[in-house]
Amino acid sequence: MSTPVLETENLVKIYGRGPSRFDALKGLTFEIHRGESVAIVGKSGSGKSTLMHLLALLDAPTAGVVALDGRPVTQLKPAAVSDLRNEAFGFVFQQFFLNAQQTVLENVTLPLKIAGVPRAERRRRGLEVLRQLEMDSKAGNKANDLSGGQKQRVCIARALINDPSVIFADEPTGNLDSATSRVVEDILFGLHRERGITLVIVTHDDDLAARCQRRLSMQDGRIIGDDAAPETAAASASVTETATATATGLYPGRHTPSSPATGRHAAVPPPAEPEAPAPPPLSRRERRRLESEAAAGRADRRGEGGHA
Ligand SMILES: Nc1ncnc2c1ncn2[C@@H]1O[C@H](COP(=O)(O)OP(=O)(O)OP(=O)(O)O)[C@@H](O)[C@H]1O
Ligand SMILES: [Mg+2]
Repeated sequence: MSTPVLETENLVKIYGRGPSRFDALKGLTFEIHRGESVAIVGKSGSGKSTLMHLLALLDAPTAGVVALDGRPVTQLKPAAVSDLRNEAFGFVFQQFFLNAQQTVLENVTLPLKIAGVPRAERRRRGLEVLRQLEMDSKAGNKANDLSGGQKQRVCIARALINDPSVIFADEPTGNLDSATSRVVEDILFGLHRERGITLVIVTHDDDLAARCQRRLSMQDGRIIGDDAAPETAAASASVTETATATATGLYPGRHTPSSPATGRHAAVPPPAEPEAPAPPPLSRRERRRLESEAAAGRADRRGEGGHA
């Protein structure tokens, strides 16, 4: 069986406290394997986005652990978590979260800017990924001027720019007509098939969920179903739930905070060209500014206690 790219143990998320306390996730333990495509489905309010935000390290759990490539990330420092997120994950959201006043190229290359990649290299890689999505002719346009389907393709380009091991998508086709949805879905599943990128897709759309190899069904903060397509049944881990939230000593001996996982997956070949020499690091202030810009464009809502 392949290594799980993501694992959770007793994952709990509680919003608020006292009379306004809400238990959004009630102790979830499961694995997502490298190269899987997983749909997270369930009624509104069942906890899908909350779960996705925890898996994607956009928010921190109240209790329990998320591990990436076998390494618990919960105990890492915020800066290490944001590095990990920036390197290993791509994000596609229903609301696009593009900076309307920036160009398509600037939007797509924001993760590289955060990572400190020099301008010329950013431009080269940005244009390359826009070409793959047939959006290079719009590189200089303001993001605001695009159609919905074009905006979503730009978001996918941005999600791909760092060669992620996992793409998280929350209702990626929620704002698109059915024909455009199909195009966007085809791009996502093409990336899954051809580059082995793991897909984690939150959706209300049954047709989209049916294209995934595995379906996690949520209800009231619990996973009530884990259905794998027959060919992936053996590779999918079973889901167990625990009624109580206990912070456990996880994965003894596997915690390596000094060497966080990069999350790179084997299916994507390394870049053909040597990497550019490491640029001077951004100042802490500049980095924070860029990160908050990016974060504002990633999550529709955050609970308290986020990672970074
Ligand atoms: N920041 C927050 N503070 C308080 N409660 C929250 C917060 N974020 C989410 N919740 C609550 O947690 C529950 C799960 O929310 P979540 O956004 O995960 O649902 P969802 O399954 O994604 O729903 P939808 O399909 O409508 O997007 C909801 O009842 C929601 O009101
Ligand atoms: Mg949601």
